[in-house]
Amino acid sequence: MKDVEEFFTTNQKIDYCINCAAYTAVDKAETEVEKAFEINAKGAKNLALVCNAQDAILIHISTDFVFDGNKTEPYTETDIPKPISVYGASKLQGEVEIQKTLKKHFIIRTSWLYSEHGANFMKTMLRLAEIRDEISVVSDQIGTPTYAGDLADVILKIINSKNTNFGLYHYSNEGETSWYGFAKAIFESCKNSVRVTPISSTQYTTAATRPKYSVLDTARAKKVFNSIPYKWEISLKKAIENR
Ligand SMILES: NC(=O)c1ccc[n+]([C@@H]2O[C@H](COP(=O)([O-])OP(=O)(O)OC[C@H]3O[C@@H](n4cnc5c(N)ncnc54)[C@H](OP(=O)(O)O)[C@@H]3O)[C@@H](O)[C@H]2O)c1
Repeated sequence: MKDVEEFFTTNQKIDYCINCAAYTAVDKAETEVEKAFEINAKGAKNLALVCNAQDAILIHISTDFVFDGNKTEPYTETDIPKPISVYGASKLQGEVEIQKTLKKHFIIRTSWLYSEHGANFMKTMLRLAEIRDEISVVSDQIGTPTYAGDLADVILKIINSKNTNFGLYHYSNEGETSWYGFAKAIFESCKNSVRVTPISSTQYTTAATRPKYSVLDTARAKKVFNSIPYKWEISLKKAIENR
């Protein structure tokens, strides 16, 4: 908290604070519960407190993993979150802390983020394809891959338009697929002939349970930010080209 306060007060007036920082090790969070909440809930609250004191707007990134995945149609902002993992619960608590502390906030829930930078599913698949002839990928979890570059564009749009419709938004690329479908599209986009085999979640057990279905309804973001997201397949091609 002290570091955040110091950063805000020793720099020029900060108008916007974009919080992309998070504890994102979904499986490890099941055993590092305190750490996950410390970063994802208390960390978010600290930023909200400082933004409130300094009259800054907080743009906070949250996740589709706040939902249990039992729906069969896209989740809206009014659907009741019900996390099924420690990571999801800690991210939801972060949202609650911000909502309690600071009026001037945009909480943007997004899903299945990837890009040409950092560590993410697309990069992992491309790395595995270099050392394997066949890759097994879960086909019974459905969501929407979202290119981080598109999310960044929407955030810039909010800032440049000085939008003050504060609140909670869902933003992802358009469409839906499984991790298996996403993997196949990654390899098709770069003409890699590695064999991809669909498997069920029960064949690929992880410490944390993932939602079976976590597609987000982006109607509110489209309307308020005047932004039509690209289809996920189109954005994937951009990411592949940019790598
Ligand atoms: N990846 C997804 O599929 C996905 C989906 C939906 C929402 N999100 C959300 O999107 C945001 C970005 O996720 P990401 O996938 O880009 O995660 P990421 O690659 O793990 O990035 C998280 C960043 O947070 C930083 N960080 C962690 N603990 C910190 C702390 N105590 N103080 C300051 N910085 C800290 C990390 O720094 P170091 O590198 O130094 O550790 C890292 O740069 C997160 O809010 C996440 O919950 C992600």
